[in-house]
Amino acid sequence: MTTPPHDEAGPTANPDQQSREEDLVERVLKSFDSCADPRLGQLMTGLVRHLHTYIREVRLTEEEWRRAIDFLTRCGHITDDRRQEFILLSDVLGASMQTIAVNNTAYGDATEATVFGPFFVDGSPEVRLGGDIAGGAAGEPCWVEGTVADTDGKPLPGARIEVWEADDDGLYDVQYDDERTAARAHFHTDDEGRYRFWAITPTPYPIPHDGPVGEMLHAVGRSPMRASHLHFMVSHPAGRTLVTHIFVRGDELLHSDTVFGVKESLVKDFDRQLAGTATPDGRAVDGTWSKVRFDIVLAPARTVPVV
Ligand code: BEZ
Ligand code: FE
Repeated sequence: MTTPPHDEAGPTANPDQQSREEDLVERVLKSFDSCADPRLGQLMTGLVRHLHTYIREVRLTEEEWRRAIDFLTRCGHITDDRRQEFILLSDVLGASMQTIAVNNTAYGDATEATVFGPFFVDGSPEVRLGGDIAGGAAGEPCWVEGTVADTDGKPLPGARIEVWEADDDGLYDVQYDDERTAARAHFHTDDEGRYRFWAITPTPYPIPHDGPVGEMLHAVGRSPMRASHLHFMVSHPAGRTLVTHIFVRGDELLHSDTVFGVKESLVKDFDRQLAGTATPDGRAVDGTWSKVRFDIVLAPARTVPVV
């Protein structure tokens, strides 16, 4: 990519100008000297340092600053308890995945984490092991099974597993016009740490792109599409809570997921089964179905962060 032409030279062109700019940065940094909370002081001075570096490096114009403020204002206006434009913004800028990377350092063969997304809802229905989470959502049936264990391979009975996904039209239930709950549920692993359930085979869908974040993606020529996935949140007193998804091997969006959520270890074989193939639990299924195995390993509850 080439640097676009700009009237001003870079920040170091004029020594007097450079010292005026640096002086301002120093004065703003100093204004946090009496902050009583050291962590807050660190967060604020780090933010100021990087923000000023950015403004000086790109030689931000006043018109661009005004448009940025307008963009953030519109992100606020479209946000409510069902739509969170700031999470979307964080996601498409890779900030969510970077925060996950910093906070979920690799531990042995523990399953990797990925982006939470804005569509988790507290209070999902509980289904029995082997039950169906679809709740009427349209899509090809998918049998999902696996285990939850710790990093020593010890099964974790009673682990709570929350799962949620979009339907075949690419919509989560919270995006429906009515209050239906569909394609989300929770259950617990059995005495041997095993779980199984029916879901729907994940399909690709766009993140909500009818707001300012969608406008930005369009302006920079980026797609709003997410690779097909099924969300999991797994918790157990003995382990670090894991927020992750599994992705579908062969999906052509694996390399262009708009929120940078794909990790190779999370790409799984969703084996397509011909119509009439016997199902694992004897359930009668009209048409094709798929099956996938996902064995989950939780890191210990307290892992020392890498600094
Ligand atoms: C999701 O997977 O549900 C999601 C993640 C990030 C942004 C939008 C949606
Ligand atoms: Fe999703």
